Parts: sequence; structure tokens; C-alpha cells
Amino acid sequence: MSGTFGDSPAPRTAPGDITALAVASFAGCSDARLGQLLQSLTAHLHAFAADVSLTREEWEEAIRILTETGRLTDDRRQEFVLWSDTLGLSMLVDTLASVSDRATESTVLGPFYVPGAPARAYGEAIFEGPCGAPAWVHGVVSDVDGVPLAGAELDVWQNGDNRLYAVQDPDAPEEHLRGRFSTRSDGTYAFLAVRPVPYTIPADGPVGRMLAVTGRHPWRPAHIHLIVRADGYVPVTTHIFDRESPYLESDAVFAVKPSLLRDFVPRSDDDPALPAGVEGRWFSVRNDIVLAPAGELRAEPAPGD
Ligand code: BEZ
Ligand code: FE
Repeated sequence: MSGTFGDSPAPRTAPGDITALAVASFAGCSDARLGQLLQSLTAHLHAFAADVSLTREEWEEAIRILTETGRLTDDRRQEFVLWSDTLGLSMLVDTLASVSDRATESTVLGPFYVPGAPARAYGEAIFEGPCGAPAWVHGVVSDVDGVPLAGAELDVWQNGDNRLYAVQDPDAPEEHLRGRFSTRSDGTYAFLAVRPVPYTIPADGPVGRMLAVTGRHPWRPAHIHLIVRADGYVPVTTHIFDRESPYLESDAVFAVKPSLLRDFVPRSDDDPALPAGVEGRWFSVRNDIVLAPAGELRAEPAPGD
């Protein structure tokens, strides 16, 4: 008779039985890493659902939100990455991948990086028209032993005082507020930027609704983006954060690392170091970069660390 095992009633299925079956279904995966990823993902998703006693209605709503996220995502808008950013997952993955305690710390790439920025000469401006207070950004790129690296590349992009990156601004030329610079033979580099301003991440989709209903804000503190590359070294994707910016304590994407805060030092137009073409108030920012040699691996933490 169905529902019985011999004379006793058939055992009831418990939540843990479902989890065990789903996890075990990946045991035969021929790609060991893929099997590990899927088993762990399944176990953690099930643990989450069990922990909060997830209801059918809540899971259906989550599926609706994921579906909307997919519909909104295309070449220009990446709502899945925004979920990853605003849940702190992008920064967790970034920090897990950190290669060396001695190299400059990395942080999020963000959605506004466009490869192929124009190559610019030492000290050149990255802006194509007035868009904020000029900021002379300069420093040395070196290896972890302090040896300067000649010919390292700095790929730089930022927003202007209208809060927009060039890729978001239909009125801005494509090359506005971005550029690629090379270090000189002594490892030094310099470029003329503008003092960045805080801005909001795209908040007109499901991620924006999540922030609003949970009482979070969509702001990022003022920063300049850089990717620094040199042959034989691990490239670093990082930011220069303005130490005086609002939102450093509550970045919507958790990307602030204290080691990346820099001073925008006010300078006057009678300063002998006044960069060419600058009039009135300006700022200077010292930002050294340290790269880890390719192949340097982070020491495994000892058990219990
Ligand atoms: C950005 O800094 O450009 C950024 C990073 C994460 C989400 C949105 C914007
Ligand atoms: Fe940004």
C-alpha cells in the first residue's frame, strides 16, 4: 500500500533530506572545482532558506526580481553586477583575491570603465572642458621592494562635477575624463584630473528599490578610478578616495579601504608648481602605487587565524 513501509508508515521527508539529495547530485561532477562550487552553493542556499523559513510567496517574489534584473541587463546596464556590488559580494571576492599584503589594495572596477582610453603624455589633462576644480595627481609606481617601475601604465577614469562619467553623459566627448599614462624612467607619473564628487549608483531598477525599502542610500564617496599594469606584475584595479568626501563610512558598494584615502591639498594660483593651463584654486594629490610580482601568492592563513 502506498504511504507505508511494510507495516510502518513511510517516513516523512524532512528539509535536510532535500538538501542532502541536491548536494549529492553533484558528487559525480567530472570537474572537481565545479562540483565543489555547486555543492557548496546548494548547501548554503538551502541553509539560508531554512534559517529564515523562506515562504513560497517570498521565493516567488525573489524570482520576479531576478527576472526583472535579467530584463534590465544589457551591454550598457548590468543590474546583476549592481546586486553583487550592493550586497558586498564584489568586494568580498576582490578582497579574497588580494595577492600581497605589500601591494596597493584593489577595489571595485564598477560599470563605467571603457577600455581604449586615449594615451596621454606626462602631466596632460584628462578632461576636455571645464568640469570641476583641477587636481594634479602624481606619484611613483614601484615594486614591493620600492624599486621604481618604468613604463607602467595607468588607465584612469573619473566623473565630473555634474556627477557623470563620460559614458553616461550624452553631451561629453568619448575621451572626456579618461586617459592612459605611462611612468617615466624613474617610475613617476602625473596627470591633471578634477576633484571628484560623490555620486549615486544607478538606482532606477530593482537594486534601487531594495536600497530605498531597506533605508539604505545609493551614494558613493568621491573617487578617481585607476587600473595600473606593468609587465611581470599583477595589475591592480583601485581608487583614489578623497579623504574629505561624504559617504566614506557608508559607500553603497562597500569599496572603501582605509589605505586608499588620499589628501586633496589646496594650492593657490601663485604657487610655483601651478600646472600649465590652470587658473585659480587647484589641488594636488600624491598617490604612490605598489605592484606585486606576477606569481607572488598570498600566504595561507594559519588555521584559527
Ligand atoms: C563606480 O565606482 O563607478 C561604481 C562601482 C560600483 C557600482 C556602481 C558604480
Ligand atoms: Fe566610480
